[in-house]
Amino acid sequence: MNLELTIQKIVADDSIHAKWLNTLSMMENSGAKKISASEHPTQVNIIILKHAAEEARHAYYLKKQLSKLKHTGCEDYTYKNILAPVQSYQYLHRLDTHLSRYIQEKLQLTGYELRYAAYLLVTYAIEVRADSLYEIYQSALKSVNSKVTVKSIIMEEIGHLEEMTKQLIAFSENWKEYADFAITLEKQLFTKWITQVEAELN
Ligand SMILES: [Fe+2]
Ligand SMILES: [Fe+2]
Repeated sequence: MNLELTIQKIVADDSIHAKWLNTLSMMENSGAKKISASEHPTQVNIIILKHAAEEARHAYYLKKQLSKLKHTGCEDYTYKNILAPVQSYQYLHRLDTHLSRYIQEKLQLTGYELRYAAYLLVTYAIEVRADSLYEIYQSALKSVNSKVTVKSIIMEEIGHLEEMTKQLIAFSENWKEYADFAITLEKQLFTKWITQVEAELN
């Protein structure tokens, strides 16, 4: 199925739409937790703080959007309230584990250096995805005049992608090679995730 069509289908059904919002909220929250977990004990700059804060805000903001739907429930992130729960929980975790291993083999980094490099690559790939996914979602919302909106998230995700790209360029002259690998891996995981979401719609 094509992604635009899938998201139109989700938006058309309040109970599925609620789970979708809750699923995105859970994934944003996982992202915020991962960023905080990768922080060095003392060398924490304003970009990392901003990023962690904004991803946590996205989780909260998506959760709040639920009240605009004629649907109750989805009060937490248990499996019954999540679309494609296994794949949704695995997505970020697998991206992080695979990219950490890749970076470790490529650059022989360890400890916080490794965690920082993984943070750069994982987040870069996710931001590329977020920019396109939230745009498609927002146009589906607009086409049905939904009260739900993700415009404020889109603004911040665009900023994140710019910041991640800048940090990657500063990190290594080979950044493009690493970034392309991250994108290829993310695509595989995203396809697994969305394929299962689509299966649950039918
Ligand atoms: Fe986000
Ligand atoms: Fe982001």
